[in-house]
Amino acid sequence: MIVAPGNAGIAQVVECVSVDVKNPQAIADLATERDVDLVVVGPEVPLMAGAGDALRERGIPCFGPSKAAALIEGSKAFCKEVMAEAGIPTAMARVCTTESQAADALDAFGAPYVVKDDGLAAGKGVVVTSDRTEALGHARDCFAVGGTVVIEEYLDGPEVSLFGISDGTTVVAMQPAQDFKRVGEGDVGPNTGGMGAYSPLPWVPDSTVTEVTERVLQPMATAMRERGTPFIGVLYAGLAMTSRGIRVIEFNARFGDPETQVVLNRLVTPLGEFLLAAATGKLADFRALEWKPGFAVTVVLAASGYPAAPVTGTPIGGIELAESQGNTKVFHAGTSAIDGVLITSGGRVLSVTAEGDTLVQARELALAATAMISIDGSHYRGDIAQLAAQGGISIT
Ligand code: AMP
Ligand code: GLY
Repeated sequence: MIVAPGNAGIAQVVECVSVDVKNPQAIADLATERDVDLVVVGPEVPLMAGAGDALRERGIPCFGPSKAAALIEGSKAFCKEVMAEAGIPTAMARVCTTESQAADALDAFGAPYVVKDDGLAAGKGVVVTSDRTEALGHARDCFAVGGTVVIEEYLDGPEVSLFGISDGTTVVAMQPAQDFKRVGEGDVGPNTGGMGAYSPLPWVPDSTVTEVTERVLQPMATAMRERGTPFIGVLYAGLAMTSRGIRVIEFNARFGDPETQVVLNRLVTPLGEFLLAAATGKLADFRALEWKPGFAVTVVLAASGYPAAPVTGTPIGGIELAESQGNTKVFHAGTSAIDGVLITSGGRVLSVTAEGDTLVQARELALAATAMISIDGSHYRGDIAQLAAQGGISIT
């Protein structure tokens, strides 16, 4: 296995190489030189640049959508259009390009207001607020740089992240997870890429996963195939379990972070075989996924200043101690090693993941391990999975 670019954590396990992720031909050249059997394109930036297209043109099996299919994440307006076409339940929305359109849309839906930058924004382009001035201000900021915004009705109810693995025709759902988007405990402060997650969700029955597969994931895959742009990769549905039923908040074209740390931690089926089956159109014949019992919880340790202005270059200590607790694994995100010293190099630095027979156990273990890690000025949420562990979430 080779990874590009990787970080200081994965470099301890596999070879890391450097490649320009915005250059699809460079990615395809690397795959050709190394004669690889499968390329998994992780993040949205290379997908939107066309890495999937360049690889498939050369006959290299690729798990990751084409540029045209990745647009479900790259443009919220495009995603809404496909959902409307496929009859997928989602929030009512208006696409706005001027301030007066935005003001009209805000007043039409009322508070709380939901204003989304149309393009890629690493999870930070969405403002949810009851303050009309702040909502309009976010729209104005987007217009100022030539952007478009999507204004939506507010969706109440708990959120669920569900990954559907699609081979272009067939979709297989993984187990659901819940992400914590706001930076602060009690869901306060700005949105982030995600501050923690747990899986599975004791308050989500299997019948809900089946319902989402039938009403959301499969119709999306079918609509994309019928448009001539089949989606091969992760159809990541961000869902709200509202009082009026399931609604899609957004689709992403990749695995979500940090949900993946908890979902894949519990997968027993070899991931490589599964993703290769998806990349080569063979999911219909793939065996049922096998999962470990119990629960996984992950806590994100973020750098000082994240999400606004993360401080990089801070030394990191205590990872070995945290991992020596048993059933604990520390995944790296924004780390680098300089002369053997581990330092922060991004906003979300580490994701401390633990498994337990119960959600209470997994949560306690993950929090205890997180507290053993030292990064000056870092912060994390101590309330990841708390409400669910107390049995405090239900859906109607
Ligand atoms: P998105 O980038 O679209 O996933 O939005 C980021 C986060 O903003 C979501 O995970 C929700 O917490 C929140 N959000 C987005 N759209 C809505 C909505 N229509 N109603 C309520 N919250 C929303
Ligand atoms: N955890 C949210 C995301 O990956 O977009």
